[in-house]
Amino acid sequence: MSAGAPGAAPGHGLHAGPGPLGLPWSTGAVRGEDGAVRVAGVDLRALADEHGTPAYVLDEADSRDRARTLRAALTEAFGAIGAGVDVYYAGKAFLSVAVARWAHEEGLRVDTATGGELAVALRAGVPGEHLGLHGNNKSDSEIERALDAGVGRIIVDSLGEIDRLAAAVRARGTDAPSAPVMVRVTTGVHAGGHEYISTAHEDQKFGLSIAVPAGAGGVSPAMTALERVHAAPELRLLGIHSHIGSQILDPAGFAVAARTVLGLRAELAARTGHLVPEVDLGGGFGIAYLPGDVPLDHQRIATDLASAVDAACAALGTPVPRLSFEPGRTIVGPSALTVYTVGTVKPVALDDGRVRTYVSVDGGMSDNLRPALYGAAYHATLVSRTGSPDTMLARVVGKHCESGDIVVHEVQLPVDTAPGDLLAVAATGAYGRSMASNYNHVPRPPVVAVREGGTRVLIRRETEDDVLALDLG
Ligand code: LLP
Repeated sequence: MSAGAPGAAPGHGLHAGPGPLGLPWSTGAVRGEDGAVRVAGVDLRALADEHGTPAYVLDEADSRDRARTLRAALTEAFGAIGAGVDVYYAGKAFLSVAVARWAHEEGLRVDTATGGELAVALRAGVPGEHLGLHGNNKSDSEIERALDAGVGRIIVDSLGEIDRLAAAVRARGTDAPSAPVMVRVTTGVHAGGHEYISTAHEDQKFGLSIAVPAGAGGVSPAMTALERVHAAPELRLLGIHSHIGSQILDPAGFAVAARTVLGLRAELAARTGHLVPEVDLGGGFGIAYLPGDVPLDHQRIATDLASAVDAACAALGTPVPRLSFEPGRTIVGPSALTVYTVGTVKPVALDDGRVRTYVSVDGGMSDNLRPALYGAAYHATLVSRTGSPDTMLARVVGKHCESGDIVVHEVQLPVDTAPGDLLAVAATGAYGRSMASNYNHVPRPPVVAVREGGTRVLIRRETEDDVLALDLG
């Protein structure tokens, strides 16, 4: 799941002189002559004074740029082989009304996975036909909301869901439009920290397998689902969907999955005469979390994939489909940092004679679950000042009541790091706020967008009153 291993050589938390911090920080993160860091011209000391800590600081221009350039790269590369492209921003990475609006303004559509995400995108004014609804266990009310909104596609994930969706459309009467459907299939390709390529039958909850089980009359669950959608008058079969994993740094798995899905498309056409017009290759484009990490290159993935799709379609003798993608992490992940205030600083003697200094901050696993959940590695630096050029081996930890509450496993921080200093953790824009909790009744931090020297609160800080409001006593 994660980039880098927890035990990897610690990144150096110092940035010697003034200037851009570089990866894994957002493009707007710059250390000033006075040693303090600005993001998009906003001094993090002033931001912390005004908005408090911890806070997620989202560099708007960086995120919009990432959305725009990824879409442009895909549009150009697939345009060259005669294929159209739609890019759906995967809202699970981080969704707010403003961010859904940015995605829409940059020409992206929005991929939602629940009724809640659908509600945010609709509140943002994203047109229904530019929305997709995923989910392996969609409720009746989620299906109804999607139909009410006229979403552009519902990605079905089981045979039972196909029947439920057809029934829901039927119940709307004979004038109701048919529902646009994609079928999520599993190709046996896993990427992103798991076994790279596996031909085994997949033992997980998502999608319908293309593998043919023994004794099923030679038909895979994926083909059964595709034929069932095709045969249902209430449903319109748009295409086939494949998502192979997340935080993928090697592009090869996408091409393997693309070839497999295109083969399935040709097989379906041979069986039914229906050549589905669209193929979705999912999200999963990996980003840098540590200095030295090499993110998946948008330009390269676009050109590599377009030529793989072109070659596969030529070999199959089928025209190229319209392609779609669902990137989440790569759109917002690198664009945000989390700024914390340092509290307790505690040196601990290790068995091997070294000393590790535990630097406690005013958040932790409630605002970034990824280190605890996946062993994900992150990078941190002092942002209120440069600090001493002499460094110490540090572990950044939170304030929660368990020892696994680690924010950064290993980082070199200035030896004079002290209570009251501001510390930032890089690349927390994706799956940070969206997986945040109220563990220990800690209110969730705000998301503050920064742009051209100004700040705008996208999600305000939760208060104790917010949390207590749910407690009916
Ligand atoms: N499309 C589908 C169907 C997905 O399941 C996902 C992610 C995406 C798109 C977006 O993937 P992305 O481009 O963001 O990698 N909580 C984990 C990540 C879980 C991803 C689940 N699905 C983490 O923090 O790493």
